[in-house]
Amino acid sequence: MNDTRQVLKDYERRAELGGGEARLKRQHAAGKLTARERMELFFDAGSFREIDKLVTHRCRDFGMDGELIPGDGVVAGHGRVDGRLVYAFAQDFTVFGGSLSETNASKIVKIMDLAVRNGAPIIGLNDSGGARIQEGVLSLGGYADIFLRNTLASGVIPQISAIMGPCAGGAVYSPAITDFNVMVRESSYMFVTGPDVIRTVTHEEVSKEELGGAMTHNERSGVAHFAVEDDRECLALIRTLLGYLPSNNLDDAPRVETADPDSREDERLNALIPEAPNQPYDILDLIRSVADDGAFLEVHRHYARNIVVGFARLGGRSVGIVANQPAHLAGTLDIDASVKGARFVRFCDAFNIPLVTFEDVPGFLPGTQQEYGGIIRHGAKLLFAFAEATVPKVTVITRKAYGGAYCVMASKHIRTDLNLAWPTAEIAVMGPDGAVNILYRKELQEASDPAAVRADRVREFREKLANPFVAAARGFIDEVIEPSTTRPRLIAALRSLDGKRDTNPPKKHGNIPL
Ligand code: HXC
Repeated sequence: MNDTRQVLKDYERRAELGGGEARLKRQHAAGKLTARERMELFFDAGSFREIDKLVTHRCRDFGMDGELIPGDGVVAGHGRVDGRLVYAFAQDFTVFGGSLSETNASKIVKIMDLAVRNGAPIIGLNDSGGARIQEGVLSLGGYADIFLRNTLASGVIPQISAIMGPCAGGAVYSPAITDFNVMVRESSYMFVTGPDVIRTVTHEEVSKEELGGAMTHNERSGVAHFAVEDDRECLALIRTLLGYLPSNNLDDAPRVETADPDSREDERLNALIPEAPNQPYDILDLIRSVADDGAFLEVHRHYARNIVVGFARLGGRSVGIVANQPAHLAGTLDIDASVKGARFVRFCDAFNIPLVTFEDVPGFLPGTQQEYGGIIRHGAKLLFAFAEATVPKVTVITRKAYGGAYCVMASKHIRTDLNLAWPTAEIAVMGPDGAVNILYRKELQEASDPAAVRADRVREFREKLANPFVAAARGFIDEVIEPSTTRPRLIAALRSLDGKRDTNPPKKHGNIPL
């Protein structure tokens, strides 16, 4: 009996040593934690249970028969995050560069299947040289097995990827399908083809960091949703993110007690909108003012900054916030903002997270770049996503709601449950200046004092049309509210929608304009 215990202990010790002391040291020297350290740090203390710790590869070629390392380059299992069940796998770069073999993939597949069957989120900590070169198509097949599961689990359980080292070639497509990607600055990169191939094919010189580092994917490509300084911040951020999410699509997000009163008003909001209609302000001031304890987890913070998306709580309940940002590109909707918004709306809708929209949008961004890039197709994504969403939806128009953007940004017409407006709201086909130029072109051309005529006409247009009262008279706006009361009004609205049940017509799936 003692012997058996010793054999098991020795075996487990070998697994825990991964690729050996020297490689573990190299991992630390690169500023990275090891796969097991990451798991221990990620889960509630002492809750991580590893499975398939003793799995080894089956490759007999290229001298691999002598190189059996228990675990085969990936640490997989489950544990608790704030007491809730979560599944995770962490690629172990110290074992064959964390590369994906047949058995390594089967461990990931097993943990993904368990996560789906048990309705718990799956977290992937990526740090790998990609497909295990010695195993050829067996490795490629392993990737495809994972991609299939990522696809089938989409909208069923939250899937979060952390990129904590290399993630190259086809390996990028698993994180790409998951809901959120977190990238660690300096130590992670993602690309389909690396700098060497690019140099050969296109003669471009680019570093790994420039091509696929954390800020490239957070700012330019939008592939990543969060950038963090190091492994510890990465794991802490995923825990925070999970706190806003339900465990699966049939669950509700956890409610979190708060000392922040539901009835709290904020007088400062009455002065948030500047006197001049084109002067910017920061929509984050409004979001933080209404959220429980001022807490807002911004998603995609560095990308398409003209729209802000992220999670907050109102009265203890998770909400997804979508807000135009007048402080960037005047809050116009462009291609990137539309895609960013649409993806976030669909995530919230899939996971029963109510949507709160703050609207101040002068319209879609004009220009050939946008038209040639397909703003029609991409803008339609945001419209489609809002229209299709059946979760509770509440919109607050703070200032501009012009043109097509009025329709798109969760208007009453696309099944928004409650549409509120501040008295400063301007709802019209276009802004007063543009409208006057078109409607009174002739009069302006012929006027002896065109500036005076223009000013008169603009004032008249504002009074008649650029306000919330025409829409309110039609019921397109349910109520015009004092800005200071926004938090209590939103919380009351969400309470009244607690039991909302809405469906879309039966279909296999829609055809969102991709
Ligand atoms: C087997 C691998 C490996 C791989 C690395 N290793 N990548 N073993 N298959 N894909 C091993 C190395 O031999 C080395 O073993 C150890 O891991 C660490 O690698 P180093 O090169 O020493 O580390 P580093 O200098 O940090 O460079 C890391 C790296 C580099 C940039 C990831 O290893 C690399 O370029 N690897 C190949 C990347 C690649 O082209 N993968 C295939 C992508 S295509 P020792 O014993 O020395 O410690 C792909 C297709 C997926 O993945 C298809 C899905 C559709």
